[in-house]
Amino acid sequence: MTIAADPLERLRTRTSEKWRAYPDDVLPLFVAEMDYPLAEPIAVALIDAVKRSDTGYVGPDRHVQSAFAAYASSTWGWEVDPQRVTTTTDVSVVIVESLRLVIRPGDRVIITPPVYPPFFGMVPEAGGVVEEVPLRFDDGAGWSLDLAGIERAFASGARAFLLCNPHNPVGLVHTAAELAAVAELAARYDAVVVSDEVHAPLTHSDAAFTPFLSVSDAAREHGIAAHAASKAWNLAGLKCALFVAAGDRMSDLLSGLPYEVEVRTSLFGRIASEAAYTAGGPWLDDVLEAVEANRALLTTLLAQYLPEVRYREPRASYLAWLDFRELGWGDDPSAVALDQARVALLPGPDFGSPGAGFARLNFACSPSVLTEAILRLAAVAP
Ligand SMILES: Cc1ncc(COP(=O)(O)O)c(C=O)c1O
Repeated sequence: MTIAADPLERLRTRTSEKWRAYPDDVLPLFVAEMDYPLAEPIAVALIDAVKRSDTGYVGPDRHVQSAFAAYASSTWGWEVDPQRVTTTTDVSVVIVESLRLVIRPGDRVIITPPVYPPFFGMVPEAGGVVEEVPLRFDDGAGWSLDLAGIERAFASGARAFLLCNPHNPVGLVHTAAELAAVAELAARYDAVVVSDEVHAPLTHSDAAFTPFLSVSDAAREHGIAAHAASKAWNLAGLKCALFVAAGDRMSDLLSGLPYEVEVRTSLFGRIASEAAYTAGGPWLDDVLEAVEANRALLTTLLAQYLPEVRYREPRASYLAWLDFRELGWGDDPSAVALDQARVALLPGPDFGSPGAGFARLNFACSPSVLTEAILRLAAVAP
């Protein structure tokens, strides 16, 4: 069964960023929120908590850790020890606090642009300095990690790698072999890999997600993973994410986290995430069906109406990395899209210098909204 996105009139009653940042004449396809109605088991769990006035502090309850471990086992065949999982506010906090534990002020941290823009700020927030090792691009093979560049960065002193797995914005699902190679490099240079896996449950049916911590002993010894139900089940406002360790060294390190980092998890986030991991599978299957249909629809629409815009279908998530360079809309095509087409996209340059001439479009919307957005863009193309 496929799921239908909520109609625009209903979406415009939402108060989240996507629906409050722009006036109603703009189609908001920028921030990574989805337009589908919340999964029923999550809504039921939240409403039930409200009815029972279960609105106090988070405490020692560890159901969400166990629910995640069961989900990871059944979905990815990855055995997680719930004792090695710690909750916190959101994935950004997992990343910043993990980096804080593993680097000293001024240490360099690798990121791989074009990449999720807040990575550029999280590294300095943790006291580090960004070292860019851009993804490689090949017309035939598409995007990939530059393993030689990552090795050079480690060899010259970078202490950590903030990996995006799967990769936002290009929807790249790294292979087990690439991840094992990254882990080997981290071990060789005694560095740490923080693997942001928030998009993992949104891996498409024609790809296979590999958890970084599952690839080797080196990965377990040198890696921390960041997980959350927030992206796949659209719970970003509820604030719950997970630090995951799989080796003694990283578990010991995480046990040094201030207790306050853990209890800043939202109780509603924890309740919703547990419901997502235990009972949200059928809803997510429906969402992925709708997302994959839109992934293909976008290819068709661009071929028909905007053939100058290049797009490689992602293998995870609902984000399209659009190359506008042939259209001549300048370094930031999202400015033209907003001003002239009234379509809000994320500016490519925010993802780092390889994003000049690109923009990111969120297609977790109805097919009609996606069609309307492309028609509007095409109407202003020369
Ligand atoms: C790669 C990546 N990491 C982290 C986040 C944000 O996660 P959170 O809202 O839990 O901080 C996003 C949001 O889109 C993302 O794409």
